[in-house]
Amino acid sequence: MSFIIEINELSKLYGFGDATTVALDDVTLNIKKGEFIAVMGPSGSGKTTLMNMIGLLDRPTSGDYKINGRKVARFSEYRRARQRRENIGFIFQSFNLLPNLTVLENVAAPLSYKGVRQAKRLKLAAQMLEQVGLRDRDSYYPAQLSGGQLQRAAIARALVNSPSIIIADEPTGNLDSVSARVVMELLSEIHKMGNTVLMVTHNPSLTRYADRIIYMLDGAVVYDEASAVGEIPARVQRAVEALRKSDDDEKLANVSAMMEMMPEKHLGGSTPAEKSKPKKSKKKRGKKKK
Ligand SMILES: Nc1ncnc2c1ncn2[C@@H]1O[C@H](COP(=O)(O)OP(=O)(O)OP(=O)(O)O)[C@@H](O)[C@H]1O
Ligand SMILES: [Mg+2]
Repeated sequence: MSFIIEINELSKLYGFGDATTVALDDVTLNIKKGEFIAVMGPSGSGKTTLMNMIGLLDRPTSGDYKINGRKVARFSEYRRARQRRENIGFIFQSFNLLPNLTVLENVAAPLSYKGVRQAKRLKLAAQMLEQVGLRDRDSYYPAQLSGGQLQRAAIARALVNSPSIIIADEPTGNLDSVSARVVMELLSEIHKMGNTVLMVTHNPSLTRYADRIIYMLDGAVVYDEASAVGEIPARVQRAVEALRKSDDDEKLANVSAMMEMMPEKHLGGSTPAEKSKPKKSKKKRGKKKK
């Protein structure tokens, strides 16, 4: 069996001495080509840190990471950058489009490293924009687009290189439900084309697009389960229902509330939904190291 991503006892510590935060705590994780993984967990549990490691945006403190069977620790800086550019597509909640470039230029930007000629770059970018339904906005600037359009443009940019690994960190976090749906359908298409998708989400209902679900808590993977696409696993379902009973729609989208119910013992369905804290209250909960 070959894995596209092999992570072995990976840890990431921030800070020193008493102020050390263990953002990742001995994470071991193997990912097969073509999996769609939903990564869940409360704020501060290490989801973004893990995505940054996988996406070669950051380096672990200890542990092993292999991408396509090759040890990342042995990569030169140049090779890391090339891997990142050519094989990994990033989609962030904050879009990260360059404000001074048009939508078309933004989408074409990742191709400029590849030595693709400009006319070809713009043509490929235009094709990507067509796919995400934004062809008519190609000469707009980011400031002239809606949130949903920005996210679609960001997706077009992430995909223009045909990366085999797509990392999406809360890609629907800032979107209304219709735009979120469009974004999810796009990610789903990418998955069906055989690509590997890693998506951090706080929304339990989005796990139905995934075929595997991972929960993180305090820097560790505490739950890792296969799940049929189209289905929300029983555990997630129970948590969603418990929230629904609480008769507060907002809580449905509220990750923190759900995650507080995530530990097994709370998932019997009889637990009343806890008073939810809005997700905005980003309480950092990294473990302090003694
Ligand atoms: N650059 C940094 N310096 C110091 N601590 C950091 C840094 N980045 C992350 N951390 C800490 O590592 C822990 C994990 O952070 P991370 O961003 O991975 O959480 P997350 O699960 O993505 O949370 P959220 O759902 O809020 O995005 C947190 O306690 C955070 O404060
Ligand atoms: Mg995060």
